[in-house]
Parts: sequence; C-alpha cells; structure tokens
Amino acid sequence: MAKRGGKLVMEQVQKRYHKTVALHPTSLDIEPGEFFSLIGPSGSGKTTLLGTVAGFVPPTGGRIEMDGVNLAMLPPYQRNIGMVFQNYALFPHMSVFDNVAFPLRLRKLGVAAVEERTRKMLATVRLPDFGHRMPSQLSGGQQQRVALARAAVYGPRMLLMDEPLGALDKNLREELQYEIKAFHRQIDATVLYVTHDQEEAATMSDRLAIMNAGRIVQHGTPRHLYEHPTNAFVASFLGTANLITVIGKPESGEAEVRVPTANAGLLKAINTIGQGAMSEACVICVRPESIRIETGEQAKVCANSNRMEGKILDATYTAGTFRYQVQVGTETEAPVAVRLPSVRQSDMLPRGTNVSLVWPASATLLIRKD
Ligand SMILES: Nc1ncnc2c1ncn2[C@@H]1O[C@H](COP(=O)(O)OP(=O)(O)OP(=O)(O)O)[C@@H](O)[C@H]1O
Ligand SMILES: [Mg+2]
Repeated sequence: MAKRGGKLVMEQVQKRYHKTVALHPTSLDIEPGEFFSLIGPSGSGKTTLLGTVAGFVPPTGGRIEMDGVNLAMLPPYQRNIGMVFQNYALFPHMSVFDNVAFPLRLRKLGVAAVEERTRKMLATVRLPDFGHRMPSQLSGGQQQRVALARAAVYGPRMLLMDEPLGALDKNLREELQYEIKAFHRQIDATVLYVTHDQEEAATMSDRLAIMNAGRIVQHGTPRHLYEHPTNAFVASFLGTANLITVIGKPESGEAEVRVPTANAGLLKAINTIGQGAMSEACVICVRPESIRIETGEQAKVCANSNRMEGKILDATYTAGTFRYQVQVGTETEAPVAVRLPSVRQSDMLPRGTNVSLVWPASATLLIRKD
C-alpha cells in the first residue's frame, strides 16, 4: 500500500435532486494511501458519492474533509484530487506527452520540471516511448493508461476513478486491474474507485463499500464482506449465496432455526444478528464452496454440521470446478448451488443423482433478509 495520500472523512453527506434521493446521509472514513472501492447496482449512488468528493456534485447536506480541510470551501480544481473516467477523455488534438504534461503546465511548472515529471509518469504507466503519438493511435488500454498518468502526474493526494475499465474487454480489464494496483503502490495517493464488478473490486481493494438505493449497506475488507455479510443483498451481490428462508424468529447466540425445506426441518446456524434486531425477517446464507456432496451409504450426520437430502438438477464443469444445482424439498424452492474443485473428485455426478448435502454449522450464517 502507498504510504501517503489524503485522509478522507465524510460526515452525513447527502444529495437530493428535488424528490429523488441520490445519496442518503452517508458517513465514511478512508485512510491515507488506502485503495477503497464503491460497488453496487446501477443507480445506487456510486457516481454521486464520488462527485461530492470531486466537487462536481454539490452535496445538499453533510461535510467532507480531506486532511482536515473542509472541501466545501474549495472549487474542484483546488481540491488536489485527480480523476479518471470510463471514457478516457484525452484531448484528441494533443500528443500523449502533451496530454500528460497538461496539468503541470496548467500549474505553471518550469519547462525542465514538466519534461522530467511527464517522462517519469509515462514510464510508470509503461508507455515510455509513446509520448509523440496521438490518442487515436493508441489501443483502449493504452489510452486508459495515459488517462491514469495525466490524473496522477501533479501528485494529487487522492485519485478518483469512475469505472475506468468499463469500456475494455474482459482480458484487458484483468490485466489493467493489476497494473492500476502496481501504479497505486508507486504513487502517494489514496484511491477511491467505482465499479459495478464485484470481482474487480475484490481484486483491487484494501476495503470496499457496497451501495444500494443511495446508501452504503456494508463496508469492510473483501474477505470480511464475503464471509460475514450482514444481509441478503450483500451476500448475493458478492459471489453466489444460497439463501434459505427461516420460519419464525430465532433466539440470539448460536441458534437452531426452522426452515421450510421438507427434509431439513432444523438447521444449526451462527446467529450474526444482535439480540435487539431479532424481530427482523431472517435468512440462512451458505456459500456454494462450503457444501460437501455425499452419496449412498457414506452420508452420516455429525454434531456440528447440517444436512439436506436432494437430487442433482444440473451439473456443469468450468475452469477446474464442478458446479451443481441441487433440488432440495419442493420444486418451488430455489435449488442449492454447490461448487467443488474437480481435482479432488473423480467423475462429475450426473443429473438425477440422489445426494446428501453436508456442511458445517460454522458456515451457516443467520443474516437479515433486508
Ligand atoms: N442530475 C441528476 N438529476 C436527477 N437525478 C439524478 C441526477 N444524477 C443522478 N441522479 C439519480 O441519482 C441516483 C444515483 O445515480 P448515480 O449516477 O450516482 O448512480 P451509479 O451508482 O453511479 O449508477 P451507474 O452504475 O449506472 O453509473 C439515480 O437514481 C439517478 O437517476
Ligand atoms: Mg455511475
């Protein structure tokens, strides 16, 4: 992680457009040098939040500080914040060198300093020999690296990126994810990054926040959010989650919960909901890779595990993994997704096989439905 960069503090920041609430009052701290991502579905408020920090969306309430300075006092160009957008927005009539040098010349740096810093930044984005080219002579990925260089060349305390890889194809996107990470390690800037791609966010970020309908629903490290989601939205937004409806209101602490699935009845679960919130509707969340499949005689119940009987509805192989859809209970209930690494199994079980699904109670989370 980069050692330096701005510290961002948002307190109850909100944005309304007449009756539309684009951002509900939101508080968030981002640490110096951190790589922090916002993810969420379209319209959830990601660009709005970014815009309040950049200065092109005036908030209708709250306070934003960088390094203790109230940003409301500063116009966008004085905030010491660089931006990269999805559409590269390079100046088409300027060479690559002049594009990257532009922010330095705007700040009236001397010719020698402009030359040195522009060359250094072009080398950092691995385009040292591209200075004389025009943007139209570059590939999409190269253009985006120039945009990155231009945003960071004057040494801003913070870099904001709004879906910078959104226009690129999958392979190039993955390559540039690692490049942007490496780039971040070389510069001294905090990064606030927007994407709707959860894998991209998990790959790149120290921490991330999941947004829905103008709110941050949960934030934390990628691993924490995947393994300890607090509600069904977060659980299903990050990866695949098997969500099973819970009947009635369970007690707090470690719990046995009743589920409608005919042959399961009771499941042992870790209750992640505090005592005060027990009146809320709950679901059980089990990740597909937590579940083991057993066939025939070998299945036995163990004290700290759960078990359900089912029948394989669908079986596929992708990239080293068997993916099963298993029907448990009635046909109206969603099938359970199971993922097993193929190297540890022999053959893929065919459709129609009767199986037992077994998984530990410790991988059975009782979470909020909403
Ligand atoms: N200028 C505006 N006037 C009115 N409503 C707006 C305006 N800008 C954004 N909104 C609304 O605010 C909400 C949040 O929009 P925002 O652009 O922040 O979403 P987003 O998460 O960036 O979505 P996407 O992934 O599609 O880019 C949306 O409902 C949007 O319609
Ligand atoms: Mg957006």
